[in-house]
Amino acid sequence: MEIYKLYLPSFATVVQIPHFYKYNPLILEWIKTTPLSKPDGWNCEVKTTFSREAQAEKNVLNTEPFKELKAQIEECFTLFYSKTFGQVKVPFTVEESWVNVYEKGNYQESHSHIHSLFAGSYYVSAPEGSGALVLEGEGETEKFINPQEGMLVFFEGEMPHRVEKNQSSENRISLSFNIN
Ligand SMILES: [Fe+2]
Repeated sequence: MEIYKLYLPSFATVVQIPHFYKYNPLILEWIKTTPLSKPDGWNCEVKTTFSREAQAEKNVLNTEPFKELKAQIEECFTLFYSKTFGQVKVPFTVEESWVNVYEKGNYQESHSHIHSLFAGSYYVSAPEGSGALVLEGEGETEKFINPQEGMLVFFEGEMPHRVEKNQSSENRISLSFNIN
């Protein structure tokens, strides 16, 4: 587990989730039958299950085939939090989660998740050149994280971040979430 201290008080971590090869084919099948759209308020062409109006009801990690993955994410988050902040028992839960599909040329503009203590992404499909997650620390302290299949990233919700353009001809597929 790599923990980055980007600037006070923001932290981020990167971890490879155990058994990711079990979950990703199930998620890819689920996406085939799930409606995706470009939501209001996003200044990019990414297709997503995110819905500003009904995000709490559309918490994809509460549905099959995501439940086991949700437990893994919460377990990893608890470990990250205890290592970073020195507390062991923390009653955090994933309150919102959504799937994003970046086709060739798609990117996501800079934004933050200001209503969440922590945010994160899990990578279902991340071909080479499909775009780094860029955590925008203060000044010149940007951190470029190249996603890999099965990688899980946590960062503080107030941290501005963006996703570079997908230069690959394959889709970049991520699952994003908010933890409070
Ligand atoms: Fe985000």
